Amino acid sequence: MKNYKIAVLAGDGIGPEITAEAIKVLKVIEERNDVSFELLPALFGACAYFATGDAFPQATIDICDQADAILKGPIGLSHEESKKIPVEKQPERGALLPMRRRYNTYANFRPVSLPKSLAHFSPLKPEVIGEGIDLIMVRELVGGLYFGNKERGVNEDGKRYVRETLEYDEDQIRRIMHEAFKLAQKRRKLLHNIHKSNVLMSSVLWNEVMEEVAKDYPDVEVVNYLVDAAATALCLRPTQFDVMVMENMFGDILSDQGGGILGSLGLMPSACIGPDKAYYEPSHGSAPDIAGKNIANPYSMIGSVAMMLENSFGMEAEAKNVWAAMQGVFADGYSTADLSKPGTGVTMISTQEFGDKVVEKLRAMPKV
Ligand code: IPM
Ligand code: MG
Repeated sequence: MKNYKIAVLAGDGIGPEITAEAIKVLKVIEERNDVSFELLPALFGACAYFATGDAFPQATIDICDQADAILKGPIGLSHEESKKIPVEKQPERGALLPMRRRYNTYANFRPVSLPKSLAHFSPLKPEVIGEGIDLIMVRELVGGLYFGNKERGVNEDGKRYVRETLEYDEDQIRRIMHEAFKLAQKRRKLLHNIHKSNVLMSSVLWNEVMEEVAKDYPDVEVVNYLVDAAATALCLRPTQFDVMVMENMFGDILSDQGGGILGSLGLMPSACIGPDKAYYEPSHGSAPDIAGKNIANPYSMIGSVAMMLENSFGMEAEAKNVWAAMQGVFADGYSTADLSKPGTGVTMISTQEFGDKVVEKLRAMPKV
């Protein structure tokens, strides 16, 4: 029997609610397979700050260090609540970026996927969605502006100024390119390289390195796209994309747009992979406005479990079953509030009901 330790960081806002549903799914995976999961809950984010004075406290670091994988819920507070925490200790800067830095999780995979049968979830017209959207954004996650030097001060003229550095070296670009090309080889052998080389020198180097790496993957076709044009293309013709690779900030922005074209950020799970450790998280925030109401969509969190099963535990078949179980719940005409707007014919169910239905579907599937 395989035994895995999973650090469970439920996070803030809707985090605990959607994490509870993800845990239900993990329990069913245990029932169905020769595997056991030791779940190690720990504080992370604003909840950790208020309990310990640190958003990523040492006790949580210790648990994550010894875990085989980390399942992390969304973190953060409303704009107003955030102000109660010193800027450098706020959950994003005080917990999430340090976690990414600590485990060097440079490769972030964000699937943007909507089968044709769920086209009604999307704000895009059915003819735009065609046979369905199925692309994956590969975002560089530990470089660029988010990790560069930050400086704030007052200049000689007495004006406040700020300076943030966008830095990449060729090795950082090369390793994410290899991830993207390898993924493209497994899929449609098509890679969209997203850049802004008409303005940014960082993109000039990015593209140079991309061309060098491309030589190792002659079977993959590369299409270069300026990031701004890519944003438009995602709305007008999303089905042209399969694998898209981009630097950190472009990936942050375009992946939220990915959630937009699906109809909800609640459909956006992700995997953050480093050389020795990976963590899994929804791509969205903690939605404090709907926290505690049992209405959040747990798809992104359960999808993150599916990505964990595949990437960290080699349980590809069960990962597929988890996706299929969630699609099955949608196919039966149910969804949470975010996707069941009036007139769509979708029956609204709660966070817990969604989790229960996924569990029911999963239990009914043939064991692998
Ligand atoms: C994301 C989030 C984070 C990011 C925030 C919470 C720091 O928006 O994972 O996309 O900007 O990377
Ligand atoms: Mg983001």
